[in-house]
Amino acid sequence: MKISVSFTLWLLLGSVYASEGVEIKPASPPDINAALREITASLAQLKADMMLLQRETTVRQVAFSASLVAGVEPGESVTTGPFPSFTTLIFKHVPTNIGNAYNSTTGVFTAPVRGAYHFEWWVAAFGDNGAHASGAALVKNSENIFTAWEQRKEYLGTASNGVTLLLEVGDVVSVSLWADTVAFDNANHHTTFSGHLLFPM
Ligand SMILES: *[C@@H]1O[C@H](CO)[C@@H](O)[C@H](O)[C@H]1NC(C)=O
Repeated sequence: MKISVSFTLWLLLGSVYASEGVEIKPASPPDINAALREITASLAQLKADMMLLQRETTVRQVAFSASLVAGVEPGESVTTGPFPSFTTLIFKHVPTNIGNAYNSTTGVFTAPVRGAYHFEWWVAAFGDNGAHASGAALVKNSENIFTAWEQRKEYLGTASNGVTLLLEVGDVVSVSLWADTVAFDNANHHTTFSGHLLFPM
């Protein structure tokens, strides 16, 4: 913020001269109208800066976490997939959605501000003798960024990965299940997608 201080400085200098009891007339008489115009302009700039700061602070609050299935009873479980093709996962249980940038109808996160964002995703699956992996990629617009992948013979495994991305306003990010892979979830929320804005740029 650039705030002019010259008028204040002039006032201070004036008071210093006055307190020393020395009669010094300024070389040129102060132009009060010019000084007022300067103050008015400074105040207008200050007001604009404060409004911008307020807006930036509000839009800077972006953080979400979601898990795949919502409304499952304890003891129930849901296996999503396998699908014949790469399919967007729609994470339905949303404990945190500050800034509402994640849409639980589409599974898509939309960047509200240009900046560096961090995402992570975890995809669980029970080993079925290696028949199906748990495999999911983070997709930015239509580009696959990173993949989480795990293929087991038995027991529950959870593949995970994370990434930091520079996003422009309106860039979309989602998680897609690879063809012929599965994602397991239950009331304990094993399969998740989270993200937050690190800082605007
Ligand atoms: C989420 O996406 C759906 C489908 O595109 C849309 O109708 C809805 O308005 C979106 N919700 C929000 C909060 O943006």
